[in-house]
Amino acid sequence: MGRRWGLLVGVLGAVWLLGSGQGGRQPAETAAQRCFCQVSGYLDDCTCDVETVDRFNNYRLFPRLQNLLESDYFRYYKVNLKRPCPFWNDISQCGRRDCAVKPCQSDEVPDGIKSVSYKYSEEANSLIEECEQAERLGAVDESLSEETQKAVLQWTKHDDSSDNFCEVDDIQSPDAEYVDLLLNPERYTGYKGPDAWKIWNVIYEENCFKPQTIKRPLNPLASGQGKSEENTFYSWLEGLCVEKRAFYRLISGLHASINVHLSARYLLQDTWLEKKWGHNVTEFQQRFDGILTKGEGPRRLKNLYFLYLIELRALSKVVPFFERPDFQLFTGNKIQDAENKMLLLEILHEIKSFPLHFDENSFFAGDKKEANKLKEDFRLHFRNISRIMDCVGCLKCRLWGKLQTQGLGTALKILFSEKLIANMPESGPSYEFHLTRQEIVSLFNAFGRISTSVKELENFRKLLQNIH
Ligand SMILES: *[C@@H]1O[C@H](CO)[C@@H](O)[C@H](O)[C@H]1NC(C)=O
Ligand SMILES: *[C@@H]1O[C@H](CO)[C@@H](O)[C@H](O)[C@H]1NC(C)=O
Repeated sequence: MGRRWGLLVGVLGAVWLLGSGQGGRQPAETAAQRCFCQVSGYLDDCTCDVETVDRFNNYRLFPRLQNLLESDYFRYYKVNLKRPCPFWNDISQCGRRDCAVKPCQSDEVPDGIKSVSYKYSEEANSLIEECEQAERLGAVDESLSEETQKAVLQWTKHDDSSDNFCEVDDIQSPDAEYVDLLLNPERYTGYKGPDAWKIWNVIYEENCFKPQTIKRPLNPLASGQGKSEENTFYSWLEGLCVEKRAFYRLISGLHASINVHLSARYLLQDTWLEKKWGHNVTEFQQRFDGILTKGEGPRRLKNLYFLYLIELRALSKVVPFFERPDFQLFTGNKIQDAENKMLLLEILHEIKSFPLHFDENSFFAGDKKEANKLKEDFRLHFRNISRIMDCVGCLKCRLWGKLQTQGLGTALKILFSEKLIANMPESGPSYEFHLTRQEIVSLFNAFGRISTSVKELENFRKLLQNIH
């Protein structure tokens, strides 16, 4: 345990230390090197290097994952985009056409997805109904086997929120609507300026465990940092416990991923005849070039890989839940549902075979009481971030922001759930651990975004190769 802990601290520390203290421009550096020279080799002292992640993601995972995410089960996400912002009320809605979200017509979404009470399968569902009815009557139906009774009661009980890292939308609200994610892709919307700034600033400032004594804006895109402030900032960060530092890096990784997407799906041409989205290398450089960003860009990209590894680990850990024979990706189309489950398991087994998994056991591992307090803090901060998403003025950005925070929140729920740990791995599939369809859809779509970003980095690397 001690060794693992030390290793992880070393890992995180090493990643942070790299990238500090680079200075003037070397004449022979290409633009690609200025973004990527530090984003290579070992991400940490021992276990994982960028090239292994790239190969694994770009060739083995990414294509199959894209396939899966195009299926009906994963493309429809129910979301309430009308929840009021809980923190301030001067949200100016972005009026741009590209910010708009087109919700689904009610007949577009398969009935199997819409029927609210379906959890896993038709069969399980009717059992749950029976059981709930029996419970109301004060007795559990005794014709069910004891094991089934137990499992069913647990399904219904474990929709509790004590494990949740996110403020969950009330998807039963009349304001919640299904959105087809394929028809509302995450891309450049033109939403920038003070409003977008405010969101990221609040996220970094209020929610990243920053003490009052640190003056430097935590949002690494903010300007006007002196060299000495920067040093104070990084020594503060290095002095943090590993969990708090990880929290910051997850947020930074998410921010980086979103920016990779906006640079890769930039609105290049906008005439009434045609709109064209594609790679904008200049935009990418402004966000990630080591010199243009005073060294921040490469750090951001490393945080993107960190986020990737965290989500990858969560997926590998939750495999037994999806392997349960009664688990279905239920849409009502039997053949397709079975095919999708096969594809899902294929992807999950691929993920499980990834040799260099992140070790989350050192998180929250210290003194039990302190660890629990820290975990609770972590959870509250993260919940806050999910609420801040309701303050995003651009609805398209709000949609993807909510989906990605819910996905990351679900990954954290998996990583830190004691119910899952208690049941792993010897005792077989856990019936205490439960994910809703919304959580499943957001988990895989959020990971799909990060996976796409890693793939896009390869494209940008090529595009930047010959630029000086
Ligand atoms: C690319 O992005 C930059 C801003 O970073 C912008 O000034 C430029 O017009 C964009 N290029 C195209 C072709 O849209
Ligand atoms: C949550 O966010 C609000 C608004 O930024 C802030 O006032 C509050 O202190 C935050 N709470 C936590 C636990 O971060």
